[in-house]
Parts: sequence; C-alpha cells; structure tokens
Amino acid sequence: MIERTLVIIKPDAVKKNIVGEIISRFEKGGLRIAALKRIHLTKEQAKGFYIVHKDKPFYESLTNFMSEGPVVVMVLEGKNAISEVRKIMGATNPSEAEKGTIRRDFGESIERNAVHGSDSSESAAYEIAYFFSFLEIF
Ligand code: CMP
Repeated sequence: MIERTLVIIKPDAVKKNIVGEIISRFEKGGLRIAALKRIHLTKEQAKGFYIVHKDKPFYESLTNFMSEGPVVVMVLEGKNAISEVRKIMGATNPSEAEKGTIRRDFGESIERNAVHGSDSSESAAYEIAYFFSFLEIF
C-alpha cells in the first residue's frame, strides 16, 4: 500500500551536517520526498508534537532537546512507507539498532537518536498535519 509518513531529522543530526546523507538513505530505500522544510521548533511546538508522550519521564528532556536547534521535517511517500522508514532508521535506542541503520550509524543516545519516524498510520496522520498543509504535500 502506498503510504505517507512524517520524518524529522533531529537537532543532533542537523548540527552534524548529515542531512543529505540521511535523506539519501531514505531515497535509496525507495522513499520519495512529498514535502520538506527546515524549522526551529519552540518548546511548546515540540511538546505539542510529542503530546502522546506527555506522561513519560523523558517528555521534558525530549522536548528541550527537540527545540535546542533546527530540525528538518519531511513527508516521505512509498510502498509501506511507515514500516520501511522504521527499518531504515533502526531501533529507537542506537545501541540496539542493527548495523547500517541511521540510528546505529549516527545516534548518540536513545534521546539524541538522529531521526524520528511515525509509528502508525494514526500517528502519521497527526504528525503530517502538524507540520504541513494539504497544499504543501505533493
Ligand atoms: P522518537 O521516535 O522521536 O519518539 C519519541 C522519542 O523519545 C524517541 O524517539 C526517543 O528519542 C525519545 N526517548 C527518550 N527516552 C526514551 C525511552 N526511554 N524510551 C523511548 N523513547 C525515548
């Protein structure tokens, strides 16, 4: 099924100047960019994006990190895009991620793990609409 998913290149990876390298891995994996922009989230915007984690112990720290510097947000499209992107990213914790995945190669910790990708079609719908209007996705 052709799906769309929301990916964020997190502040740690943007700071390392590896945006192109990360996008290239998704493109080589068969995904197509349907929308893309570089933004600097406020703390409140980061909190709204990660609202499902509001009761988790890592919510404060995660939203501080996500607003510490610019990020690149994009909509990727392709066959089974949600699970394909998650494969290319690797496990949330870089130390548990398989070799050759983005998080294994570039992640520093479970929080500073280089990329985010939607985990379900429900979260993809919320996350895409959080950053992009209908007219910006094509
Ligand atoms: P992400 O895919 O952006 O979704 C939520 C983020 O919370 C996750 O990646 C991690 O970077 C971060 N996080 C921090 N601590 C934890 C934890 N203990 N378990 C899961 N996610 C965590």
